[in-house]
Order: sequence, then structure tokens, then C-alpha cells
Amino acid sequence: MLPQKHFRTVRGMRDLLPEEAEELRWIEKEARRVAESFGYREIITPLIESYELLALKIGEENRRRMYVFEDLGGRKVALRPEFTASIARLVAAKMMNKPKPIRLFCTGSLYRYDEPQYGRYREFWQANYELIGSNKPDADIEILILTDSLMKRLNLKDYYVKIGHVGLIRGILCMEGIGEEEQNHLMHLLDKKMFDEAMAYLKGIGCSQKCIETLKNMTEARSEDKHEAIESIIKLVGDYREAYSAAKNLSEILDLLEEADVGIRYIVDAGFARGLEYYTGMIFEVFVPDMEIAIGGGGRYDRLIELFGGEPTPAVGVAFGIDRIMLALERGRTRTRTETKPNILIIPVNEEVRGEAFKISSILREAGLTVEIEVMGRTVSRSLSDADRRGITHTIIVGPKEIKQGKIIIRDMKTRKQREVHISRIPEETINLLMSHN
Ligand code: HAM
Repeated sequence: MLPQKHFRTVRGMRDLLPEEAEELRWIEKEARRVAESFGYREIITPLIESYELLALKIGEENRRRMYVFEDLGGRKVALRPEFTASIARLVAAKMMNKPKPIRLFCTGSLYRYDEPQYGRYREFWQANYELIGSNKPDADIEILILTDSLMKRLNLKDYYVKIGHVGLIRGILCMEGIGEEEQNHLMHLLDKKMFDEAMAYLKGIGCSQKCIETLKNMTEARSEDKHEAIESIIKLVGDYREAYSAAKNLSEILDLLEEADVGIRYIVDAGFARGLEYYTGMIFEVFVPDMEIAIGGGGRYDRLIELFGGEPTPAVGVAFGIDRIMLALERGRTRTRTETKPNILIIPVNEEVRGEAFKISSILREAGLTVEIEVMGRTVSRSLSDADRRGITHTIIVGPKEIKQGKIIIRDMKTRKQREVHISRIPEETINLLMSHN
């Protein structure tokens, strides 16, 4: 005999037990409903993509954290760390002549070799939405309103959004003649909130004192008041033309958001940066109180599709971390699903009636009911106490005497009342009983 060995999950990987898997799928289902109600159609992209595609604009931090390997055909591939690159590839290659806008939704697991900690896993799930083809603030707003809709559906009404614009900082750096690579590194430092290192880095690459001063003030400019925020940003970006037009764009987006009157709580943060390098416009992250990590994030990326060989096509999108939404729902235990679905356990009284019991279980499942059957060979009384323990709402007792009379017994586990039902009337009678249960 081989020696016994207890295997564990690989560090950073998790098993999701039934309750957790159920919760995850429920969130996914709600996310899919939101997608449908906004006209987003689902797509499924592969888990494995070329490393080059995924790495191109993912940002230095995430690039380092990719699961990269060579497949048996010698291709350098990686497990997807996000969906947006795959979707941009798909749109560039297969959907360029589709009428715009294109609204796409997808959900699935993603992989990042992050340090495992609260809310940060190496395998995690996202629900992702992309709105492709419009450069108007209307598209940015749609993504924000969709965010609001999902949060409300999930009963996370206390959420708020941190909002910024990559054009503010990039605009200043461009006019200072700072190249894209250096800009990317600075954005990475700001994303990691390494503000002192960021300022030292700017000094090191020869940025002017005025620029450093402006950027430093920028990282301190935060407000929940739209007018105050935009006013101070406009003052800061002053004569940096590109940054000024980014400020105007942000202002337009916030104006429209106000007009749409959805009541999204937000904080404008001029120094806000995201690690992903493809963003070109408005960026945002979604938070709930008492949780420091974002439950969602997104923004505008107008050049990625073109970079992947498509025609220049503006786009904006958002992804929600399903695992983190699960944590957010656990806060204060606002368990949202209270529905206890009726479920049935069929108990054959002895071995002779097992075949009948299986037949009845099939009839009920075909009628759309959830049916389990006793497979442990337990006695009726043990089966009943097991059913009680597991929250079964109804049991069907299949006994030889009743079967001879063409009947079975249905027992309501809550009231403990039993009723004989004729086999020919099983699905209708059972459904009637279940309906009157609650
Ligand atoms: P992201 O900010 O990298 O954006 O990820 C979106 C969300 O995924 C995060 O807010 C977080 O909730 C969740 N998430 C990220 N990393 C982890 C992790 N290691 N463990 C658990 N949850 C995590 C994107 O992925 C962009 N593709 C979003 C986007 C779509 N932008 C435009 N379109």
C-alpha cells in the first residue's frame, strides 16, 4: 500500500465550500442580471492568453505577479490577471465592424501572485463590464450608474466611489517632456501610495521644481464637493494645457452625474492613480466603509483596442471583485438572501421500495423540485432526524404497505403533519403542499 499523504491547497489558493460557492454564484447571478438590464451581452474568453498580450499594459506590479509558463508547444503564456486585455483583443480581432457601442459582460476567475492576505487572493473572481465605442462622458456615466445599480442590488447601499482622471498627472508629465515609461513608474508609485518615493523619483529624473510642487499638491487635493474639487484642480493644473482638458473632462462627467441624479456618493481625488497602464481618462474605485481595499475599479481606456491591432476605439469599463464583495456582505452580517428554498428528502422504508423511491424522485425533479434521496441505508426515524438537522422542509416516506395501495406519505418537517398522497397525483400535490409551507 502507498504511504498516506494529506494534500493541501497550494499557498494562496482556496477551496470554496458549498455556502461560499453558493454566495459567489449568487453575486455572479446578480451581476449578470445587471448586465442584462443595461444591455451588456456575455462573452467567454480563455483563461490562458499570450504573455505578451496580458503583460503589455497591465502595469509593472501586476506584470511581476503573473503566472507565466511555457506550454508544451513552446509558447510563452500566462493565466489571465484581468479581463480587459482579453476583451480588447477580442474586439480588435472579431468585432471591429459591429455597430457601436458594444456592451460586453464577463465573469470568471483570475490569477495574480499577490501576497495572500485579507481580500487579496491568488485566485479570485470578477464580474466585468466594458462599454466600447463612445468617447462621450455619457459612457463614463453609464458605467458609474451600472456600478450604483449593482451595489444597490447587492444591498451595499453604503458604498462610495473614489474618482480621478489619469490625464491630470499624465498631462503635466507630458508637458514636462517626461516619457511614457517614467510616467508609468510614477503612476505605479502613486498607486502604491508611495508619495515620498514618487517625489524623489521625479527629482531624480530631472523634473522641474514647479512640476514636483504641482504634483505634490495634486496628491493632497481631495474633496467630496464637486465644485470645490474641480476649482482646486483647475487652479493646480493652470497652464498645463493637457491636464487642463482632463480637468474639464472630469468636470463634465461629474456635472452629468449630478444631472442624472442617482445620488452616488463620491470623493474626487486628483492624485489618484491605478496600477493598470491602459487608462487614458476617468478612473475610479469602489469602496465600502470599514474595508480599506476596493471592491471594484475601472476607468476609460481609449487606446488599448488600437494597440491590439483594431481601429482607434474609445472604451470604458469596470470590474468588481466578487470575493471582496463577499467580504463586504459579511461586514455586520448583512446576509442578503433570506429565502429558504423548499427541499425534499425521499426515504425508502426498506430495500424493496428503493426502485419506487428513485422513480418518485425523478418525477419530482422533472416537475422542477429539489429532491434528495436517502442513500445511507438509514432507518426512517434516523433519516427524519437527519432531515431535521439539515433543514429539509419536506420528506416523502415510501413504504411497502402504502406503495401497494398506490400511495406515499408526505411529511411537513416544520409542522410534523403527514399526509397520504396518491402516486398519480404526486407532483401536483407535492407542489401544493410546498406552496402552503411558508
Ligand atoms: P483592478 O482594480 O485590478 O481592475 O481589479 C478590479 C477588482 O478586482 C478590484 O477592485 C478588486 O475588488 C478585485 N481584485 C483585484 N485583485 C484581487 C486579488 N488579488 N484578490 C481579490 N480581489 C482582487 C481591473 O482588473 C480592470 N480590468 C478593471 C477594468 C475593466 N477597467 C476597465 N475595464
